[in-house]
Amino acid sequence: MKQMPVHKYRPYPAPDLPDRSWPGRTISSAPRWCSVDLRDGNQALIIPMSVEEKREMFSLLVEIGFREIEVGFPSASRTEYDFMRMLVEEDLIPGDVAIQVLTQAREPLIRKTFEALHGAKRAVVHLYNSTSALQRRVVFRMEKRETVELAVKGAESIRREAESLPGAEITYEYSPESFTGTEPDFAVEICRAVMDVWEPTAERKMILNLPATVEMATPNVYADRIEWFCRHIGNRDAVIISAHAHNDRGTAVAATELALMAGADRVEGTLFGNGERTGNVDIVTLALNMFSQGVDPRLDFHDIDRVIGVYERCTKVPVHIRHPYAGELVYTAFSGSHQDAINKGIRAYREEGPEFWEVPYLPVDPADVGRTFESVIRINSQSGKGGVAYVMEREYGFLLPREMHPEFGRIIQGISDATGKEVLPGMIREAFEKEYLGSTAPLGFERCRVKEKPGRGREEASSRAKIRATVRVDGREREIEGEGNGPIDAFSRALREELGLSFRLLSYHEHALEQGSDSKAVAYIGIEDNVRDTFFGAAIDTNIDIASFKAILSALNRSPDLRKQLAAFPCPPSG
Ligand code: KIV
Ligand code: ZN
Repeated sequence: MKQMPVHKYRPYPAPDLPDRSWPGRTISSAPRWCSVDLRDGNQALIIPMSVEEKREMFSLLVEIGFREIEVGFPSASRTEYDFMRMLVEEDLIPGDVAIQVLTQAREPLIRKTFEALHGAKRAVVHLYNSTSALQRRVVFRMEKRETVELAVKGAESIRREAESLPGAEITYEYSPESFTGTEPDFAVEICRAVMDVWEPTAERKMILNLPATVEMATPNVYADRIEWFCRHIGNRDAVIISAHAHNDRGTAVAATELALMAGADRVEGTLFGNGERTGNVDIVTLALNMFSQGVDPRLDFHDIDRVIGVYERCTKVPVHIRHPYAGELVYTAFSGSHQDAINKGIRAYREEGPEFWEVPYLPVDPADVGRTFESVIRINSQSGKGGVAYVMEREYGFLLPREMHPEFGRIIQGISDATGKEVLPGMIREAFEKEYLGSTAPLGFERCRVKEKPGRGREEASSRAKIRATVRVDGREREIEGEGNGPIDAFSRALREELGLSFRLLSYHEHALEQGSDSKAVAYIGIEDNVRDTFFGAAIDTNIDIASFKAILSALNRSPDLRKQLAAFPCPPSG
């Protein structure tokens, strides 16, 4: 094993917050959501969105329920500026939606940003500069004082522009970019300096956005930093604390949830976590995490596949098959034990109608995000009998009796082992037809006459039946006759007595397949042969007695022992 160069790294400094209170809190309401898909998400794409794609994404975000949408960086490029103008000039911004625009703290850029905003009714103007120790030292070569001056100048310029913009309701937002790499007390100092310029009040709040521009530590550390900041910023009623987490350590969702517990009021993030490097925090997961706890996220993901469709079209980034709540496979079980538990859980949920959703392995009801149960159980070599039975029932309406599951499960497993592939529902149905419904030789059914008389006295419940049937044995017709307690018993006796077959009936099940006048029934029969092996047979007919007779023959044909018995039995001349 090669030693990784671990000596190049050091731990993130532990926050000093022994009396932290956030671990005891829970999330009980949705935060203010702000989508940054069209800015942070867009700037991370290989091919940034065109104006048309931005427009489609904007409409989707509005439809989902975002009321704050960062639409771009209008001073940064022609597309960004044009898109902003299109939103205003074509009146595409609903009255209750505030668009948000990002700007650096430079006068000409701020002027251009406000020029783009002309005519907008509500906007958040978002100022940022990097405050991290590392960036001050190696990128900007600025002292703390100069970094504060830059932010203050930008804030002053924004206030001037905002006050001369007619008819627009402007909210101010400031981000000490790379907050997680900034000394906690310096973050407070620079934010206070910006607050002094913008003079927020409880009635006219400003937003302080505290980005984990790079995620550097475990999520509890981000929460500590947020709680510490909230305690020290002062004039807390006048500020909205916003969390903006990136996902470098893969824990942006957790960090944001803990940040909300620690006092954040607002969340900036993107759909499916698109964004710089490993992405921004994923708002779909955050919202559906809340949903799964009975907290209304106030975002609508009832048709997740539509959201995925627009997202993938606009960003050209695929949603991973394992993506929480949204991935193609996240409601799918391949493993037999999971399938069995889901199958039973869904049945119990439907039959018992409990107040709360509780199905093993499914944290939410797939139907709540527009997924059908089609995808819940899929079959491969890891799957079990329960899953195969579930597919037969869900897709084709066959309620295979429980005793038959192991046998049919083994047949399907054989297919998946042989092909090394997923066994699709059509293949399962085909196997069922071939194995059971198509098991019509050497014994085949032709026709029959059944006479039934109701039982008497102690036998009242069980009728007696007499049968005359024509069966095919190796292609030759044979008349057989028998009498028994009901048609199935009579037919079995006829086979034993007239064809010399030795077997025992183990189980019998039947059910209707379709509704209506020409409805058919399916019968499933289990038998035990002379060498004590069990076999199932199945058959379909409009007449349930005939379906049962055919099912008996289907089972007998599948037993090597019974085929041997039949071959050994002297065959009288036909007729
Ligand atoms: O991640 C970040 O710091 C940003 C800022 C511009 C808010 O996206
Ligand atoms: Zn960001």
